[in-house]
Amino acid sequence: MKKVKIELGSYGYGIRVGTGLLARIGLWLKERGFSSKAVIITDTIVEGLYAEVLERGLANAGFDVTILEVPSGEEQKSLETAGRLYEDLTDAYTERMSPVLALGGGVIGDLAGFVAATYMRGVPLIQVPTTLLAQVDSSIGGKTAVDHGQLKNIVGVFYQPQMVVADIDTLKTLPEIELANGLAEVIKSAAIRNRNLFNFLDINMNKALEYHPAVLETIVLETARIKVEIVEKDEKETGLRGILNYGHTIGHAVEAASNFQLKHGQAVAIGMTAAAKISSRMGILDESEGVKLERIIERAGLPTEMPDIDKEAVMQAMQHDKKVLQDRVRFVLLKSIGSAFISNEVDPALVEEVLVGWG
Ligand SMILES: NC(=O)c1ccc[n+]([C@@H]2O[C@H](COP(=O)([O-])OP(=O)(O)OC[C@H]3O[C@@H](n4cnc5c(N)ncnc54)[C@H](O)[C@@H]3O)[C@@H](O)[C@H]2O)c1
Ligand SMILES: [Zn+2]
Repeated sequence: MKKVKIELGSYGYGIRVGTGLLARIGLWLKERGFSSKAVIITDTIVEGLYAEVLERGLANAGFDVTILEVPSGEEQKSLETAGRLYEDLTDAYTERMSPVLALGGGVIGDLAGFVAATYMRGVPLIQVPTTLLAQVDSSIGGKTAVDHGQLKNIVGVFYQPQMVVADIDTLKTLPEIELANGLAEVIKSAAIRNRNLFNFLDINMNKALEYHPAVLETIVLETARIKVEIVEKDEKETGLRGILNYGHTIGHAVEAASNFQLKHGQAVAIGMTAAAKISSRMGILDESEGVKLERIIERAGLPTEMPDIDKEAVMQAMQHDKKVLQDRVRFVLLKSIGSAFISNEVDPALVEEVLVGWG
C-alpha cells in the first residue's frame, strides 16, 4: 500500500492506494478512536460487489454497521435523495463521532459527501472510491454537491474527508466504458502537469485497458499526487486549481449539447482535443504535441472527433458555463504536454472556427 498525504492549512489527511484495502478500513478507523457505529452509503451495484467485505472488516473491528443504499445513477445526486438519507441517519446515527463511509463512484462520493458535510453540521467522512474516476479525481479535494433543476453540482460545499481509501481491486469489475471515463481524467492530469505520467501511459495503455493491477495502481497513485499537489496550493479554486478543468470548457458544453448522451469522459476527451487545437492555432502549443495527445486519447478508447451535434448549441452551452468572464470564456491552454495555464484571451471566433472546421 502507498500513501499520499494532503496538507491543507492546519488540516491534513491520507490517501491510501493499493490492493486488499477494503477489509482493513475497520482497523484503521478503530485506531482513530471513532465511536462504535459506522454508516456505509453506497449504490445498488457497488453494494452487491463490495459492501460485504467492507462491512465484515468494520464489524471485526467492533463497529456496529448500517448500510444505506441508493439506486445507481446520476439522478440520485439530488436534494430529495439527500433528504431521504438524513432521515435514515436519524435512525442509524446516534453518536457524533461515528464515521460515514462513501463506498462507490463519484455519484456516491459527491452525494454522501454532501450529506456528511451537512448532517449535524458535519460528521466524519471516509471516501472509499470504487471507480477510476472517483479514485483519481472526485474523492480528492473536498468538493461535494448535488444537482438541482437542470444544473449539475449547483448545491454543494467544500468538505474534506478524514481519509480516502482507493482499493485497486475494486476496479476489476468496472465496465470498460467506466474505465475509459476515468482514463480521460488521468490523461488530462498528465497533460496539464506531468509528462512522466504521460510517457508511462504511452508505454502502458494496453495493460491499463486489460485492468493490469500494478499499472492501474501506478496510474491512480500518480494522478492522485497531481490532484493533491494542485489542491494543496489552491483548495477553494481561486486560481491554479482551475487548470484541472482542462478540456472541460468545451467538454461540458458538448456533454450538455448531446443531452448527456455522451459520458463525461468522452466529452472531456473531445474538449481536450479541441483545447489542444486552439492552443496550437494561437501559436502556444507545438502541433506535434497535440497529435501525441490525440493519439493517447484514441488509444484509451475515447473520441477525438466532434460528434454530429449542433455546433451552435455547443457555443451557447459554453456561454452559460460558470467560467464565462465578461464575454470571454475562461480556457485552460497547453504550452506543452505537462504544462498548462489559464487564459481569458481566447477569442470566441477562434473557438467557433475550431468547432466548425473540425477535421
Ligand atoms: N467532487 C469532485 O471533485 C468531482 C470530480 C469529478 C466528477 N465528479 C462527479 O462524479 C460523478 C461521476 O462519477 P463516476 O464516473 O464514478 O460515476 P458513478 O458513480 O455513477 O459510477 C459509474 C457506474 O459504475 C458503477 N460502479 C461503481 N463502482 C463500480 C465497480 N467497482 N465495479 C462495477 N461497477 C461500479 C456505478 O454503480 C455506476 O453505475 C458525477 O456526478 C460528477 O459530477 C465530482
Ligand atoms: Zn471531469
